[in-house]
Amino acid sequence: MSESLTDDYLLYSPHPAASTLAQWLEESNQITRQILSNISAADHLVPQLNILNPPLWEFGHLTWFHEFWVHRDGKVNKPSFMKDADYLFNSSEMAHQDRWHTPMPSLDELLAYNQSVVERTQLLLRGSIDNKTAYFIQLAIFHQDMHNEAFAYMWQTLGRPIPFAPLSNSMGLEDNTQTWIHFPKSTIQAGSAPGSGFIFDNEKWAHSIDLPAFDIASKPVTNADYFEFLKSQANRTSAKPVAPPSYWKKDGEIWLERFFDQWLPLNPTSAVRHVNYLDAQRFCEHNQVRLPSEHELSLLMSQKEMIWQPSNLWEWTSSTFAPFPGFTADPYFDYSKPWFDGGYQVLKGWSLFTPDRLRRSAFRNFYQRNRSDHFCGFRTCLL
Ligand SMILES: [Fe+2]
Repeated sequence: MSESLTDDYLLYSPHPAASTLAQWLEESNQITRQILSNISAADHLVPQLNILNPPLWEFGHLTWFHEFWVHRDGKVNKPSFMKDADYLFNSSEMAHQDRWHTPMPSLDELLAYNQSVVERTQLLLRGSIDNKTAYFIQLAIFHQDMHNEAFAYMWQTLGRPIPFAPLSNSMGLEDNTQTWIHFPKSTIQAGSAPGSGFIFDNEKWAHSIDLPAFDIASKPVTNADYFEFLKSQANRTSAKPVAPPSYWKKDGEIWLERFFDQWLPLNPTSAVRHVNYLDAQRFCEHNQVRLPSEHELSLLMSQKEMIWQPSNLWEWTSSTFAPFPGFTADPYFDYSKPWFDGGYQVLKGWSLFTPDRLRRSAFRNFYQRNRSDHFCGFRTCLL
């Protein structure tokens, strides 16, 4: 993984000013440190599940990733500041289940490792940096942002207190009117072109798509919509009953929804969240609508927010995660390529825990179809 197959990343410009990167790094690392300072020793013990990571491992891993790409040129023969870091913290080498059973450095040792790596990068950012350095520093920051967000999912899964403040103000939907937005037949550009600034390899490259006319919902499916669907299913004898979203429960006559460690009354006008792709599809079949493709949702999300309402959730699409024409893996080889196996679905948008710098309509998130632990929802298109 240390050898780059292409130098495409040198085409990912222009880059933000060094002072902006310094600020982003500070923000992302502050959040990570805030997460760690808010959790007790007991909190470091998390159940061994495929969707979780031990917090100490995750902290060591994101620091290692940063050091490896920014200060070691992605080469193992350049030694790490921390002993055994390559063995312990390379996610491509350390099997997931072993992360629970391998002795880890202490939190204090990992904090010192993190400080040394971040200080070395902040020093670089005080001078002028070339495209290559700017690319790898952004890769390290965005990777850390994604792990911060994954930490929020983990704490939501485990019902623990909110680990850091949401990065969006709004949880609910501002306007409760549902309209269908019509897009006429058009030819659009999918993917990203050289010169678009930082991109991930799965956005390569820009290409034209003929998109037939479609009508897409101005707002996402709400709790009230989903509740009606569940009621309709309860009266049916189906081999596969639809379960309520993971964090709903009935208390007497009232439905509650869990947000981290708080059980709150279910808000009928909020976007429904924690619904997996398979249940979103069943909702669509029942209501005789469909999920949008990734290109349709990209087109919607590239419009001014006046005409559509964001959900602050990753929104499922009907598109299976697959390479665009001209794809080649970037130096962080495992970011996309191993997941082009047909088992993942593209999601667009952002969650409450995604920083602005990752909120791009060309960004392609992807998850397995049965996952609902991340902050996900969906909107629909007319058939
Ligand atoms: Fe990672």
